[in-house]
Amino acid sequence: MMKVAVFASGTGTNFQNLLNQKDLDIDFSLLVCDKPSANAIKIANDNNIEVLSFNPKEFNSKAEYEKLITDTLLEKEVELIVLAGYMRILSSEFVNKFNNKIINIHPSLLPLYKGATAIKDAFEDEKNIFGVSVHYVNEEVDGGEIILQDKVLNTEGLTLEEVTAKVHELEYKLYPMALKSIINRG
Ligand code: GRF
Repeated sequence: MMKVAVFASGTGTNFQNLLNQKDLDIDFSLLVCDKPSANAIKIANDNNIEVLSFNPKEFNSKAEYEKLITDTLLEKEVELIVLAGYMRILSSEFVNKFNNKIINIHPSLLPLYKGATAIKDAFEDEKNIFGVSVHYVNEEVDGGEIILQDKVLNTEGLTLEEVTAKVHELEYKLYPMALKSIINRG
């Protein structure tokens, strides 16, 4: 079983969706969370998954809390880091240390609409192209090699809320598929 750490900051619906996939050969060894009140922590607790939660404001620097994360990942022999709504940018030192071992899901058809408000940006853009991308994480935010991506179809006339729901549905399909392809590659 591949040892995986999930990093999340918020509601954790992607995290929950991954846990629901009974055919994923994954040992969810750790949740890393930078918001001690996040719902993702409740999900981890309900599933007996160890949690490393921290408040970045209580550290002098990013290097300091990333050292805590790194030490915990190494101690738990984590093989893959799965970002699922982790809202902090990882330092290049961290990304390079775990080169090719960090993946992210982003709610757009990258390279379109990078950043934290991707769905809204797509909605407000006249091109109206919606999608989901799973990609490796490198030093460039929302850059990195694409593992899997797909478009959300039939969005004409929908509200932002309705499109957002459709984007999330596609996320729940693509993230498990991407993980399976990584596991199969070995
Ligand atoms: C998802 O839309 C994901 O693509 C983005 O952050 C959101 C996380 O949502 N990176 P959730 O916490 O999994 O519900």
